[in-house]
Amino acid sequence: MYIPDEIVDEVLRRCNIVDLISGYVSLQKKGSNWFGLCPFHNEKTGSFSVSESRQMFHCFGCGVSGSAYTFLMKYENFTFPEAVRFLAEKEGVVIPEGENPEEARKKESRRKQLLDVLYDAELYSYNCLRNPRGEQGLSYLRGRQLTDETIKHFGLGYAPKNSKEVIGYLKSKGHSDENIIAVGLGEFSEKYGMSGKFWNRVMFPIQDVNHRVIGFGGRVMGEGEPKYLNSQETEIFNKRNQLFGLNWARTSRKKEMILCEGYMDVISMHQAGFTQAVASLGTAFTEQQAKLISRYTKQVVLAYDSDEAGIKAALRAIGILRAEKMYAKVMSMRPHKDPDEFIKALGQEEFQKRIDEAENGFYFEIRMLERGFDLSDPDGKTQFHNEIAKKLCTFEDELQRENYLNAIAEKYVIRADILKDAVKRYAASGVGTKEKQIDFSVPKPLASAKMRKDQLKEEKYKRSANLLLAMLWQMPEFYQAVRDYIGPKDFQTEEYQQIAELLFQKLEAGEKVEPALMISRFEEEHLQQLAGEIFSAREEAMLGLSGEGEDPAPDKETDRKVFKEVLLFVKSTAYEKLAEDAPLAEVVKYQKDIEQLKKLKL
Ligand code: UTP
Ligand code: MN
Repeated sequence: MYIPDEIVDEVLRRCNIVDLISGYVSLQKKGSNWFGLCPFHNEKTGSFSVSESRQMFHCFGCGVSGSAYTFLMKYENFTFPEAVRFLAEKEGVVIPEGENPEEARKKESRRKQLLDVLYDAELYSYNCLRNPRGEQGLSYLRGRQLTDETIKHFGLGYAPKNSKEVIGYLKSKGHSDENIIAVGLGEFSEKYGMSGKFWNRVMFPIQDVNHRVIGFGGRVMGEGEPKYLNSQETEIFNKRNQLFGLNWARTSRKKEMILCEGYMDVISMHQAGFTQAVASLGTAFTEQQAKLISRYTKQVVLAYDSDEAGIKAALRAIGILRAEKMYAKVMSMRPHKDPDEFIKALGQEEFQKRIDEAENGFYFEIRMLERGFDLSDPDGKTQFHNEIAKKLCTFEDELQRENYLNAIAEKYVIRADILKDAVKRYAASGVGTKEKQIDFSVPKPLASAKMRKDQLKEEKYKRSANLLLAMLWQMPEFYQAVRDYIGPKDFQTEEYQQIAELLFQKLEAGEKVEPALMISRFEEEHLQQLAGEIFSAREEAMLGLSGEGEDPAPDKETDRKVFKEVLLFVKSTAYEKLAEDAPLAEVVKYQKDIEQLKKLKL
């Protein structure tokens, strides 16, 4: 049965391939990847790697490769829909049942239509900020010390006083009233007809991880109620499952993410170089949001407001993060209110210091807990210590609990053995540890290795084509240099053409290519396998040089050389094949292209 792409992607985004595969294979971290014994062939040293950042697995021994779905298909012998269903259940994603493919496709095309409305609305508000009627908005944002570059980066805009304007614009673009209402941008009344929800506000587009606008927040310029007006939840905007700024933060490559409360906080932090900042959107932090972050890092620094509401929100978030086996720290904004004001007052360096000095989440919890007890009274003290014991039970990891127990016992001068007894008591009465089930099943035998002679040639082609596509993906400058000379049709097999088609489409649109998501655009295992190989091709090629299957960093010169080599090989192979029976004009064009490519300076 047909499962819409959006569900396939959502399930994949929620799942962490490392956790999934850990249930089958015992993995150990080496550099940025995880390694273990390959379950698909017999081996004594672990050449099976799992990459968290790419959400892929790849075996440097036997070459199996793919996404979480591919793994399940290979290991459990699932079909693609079975793999998606299995994982969806695990990750708590509901697949709409009882739909025929026709209906499901309709749904997806509707989703695209709705995204288009928002895209046009963003374009409109973005432009309004830059014409005379947006002057007030622009000066408001500049008054808040946002640079023009920041304003542009976040796509900030302005909604004019007359809310009918945006409706007129959207309709002129061919959007229906119904769709405009469905995305939360308009409302209809008998008296006034269609009018826009946002007017006379500066607009903050809310983007999903793929930079697609899915909603808006609009702020009054100055005082007024409500301060921020947000898009309501819609078919495409699920607040519990989104984080403002994540589209940028996910590639920040910082060791932690900073979680804060507001739009302006995220934007100020990014402007000051803290591109690892995200905010939950005017709602309390959710488990789904924690899961989203854990795809990128386990360490979260909370930068909530320094008032009571902020403390409460932080305590809540710490609990949620711990339940997801993540680590929380709390940074102090005092004497300022929030990150935006802090940075304005004290600057970027002081802010970095506060990140470095952030308090361990557990210490923070205990310190806040302490405020509720009179420690000068023995009963108050006893209650406090019992509460500490209860809190310690929230750690599932025994070692971690033990370490915290000792640290806290020392910090608050409690006898560790007595505290331990109390923890045991509470743990026995409810909060237990859940041991992870690791399945040491017998690896499947390797598919019989057959190597015929003409396969050698095929292998060379494969290596070159894989490497070429991988390099086009990883090095946009190479892609730009050769995009006029090479396309999907230059690849030999139907398989390659299909994958190249999708890859070129993304590169041409300047979209970020996420390996696991792209692999999962293909239902058939052999296509997933090939796509996986392509995404691992550079690491595979580097293996001979470095001996380790992780993070090779070849020099630019080698890259250029290799790229040219594989490019010419693939192109000439295409030429040889074509020269047999293609019309002369086409053959000549190929010759010319090849000549150009030979001369190409990269
Ligand atoms: P704050 O009131 O702390 O605002 O709300 P802020 O982020 O400091 O905003 P500025 O600096 O005054 O512009 C924090 C977050 O709570 C949500 C918004 O997401 C906001 O960024 N919020 C707040 C609303 O959704 N509606 C409101 O009316 C107020
Ligand atoms: Mn603020």
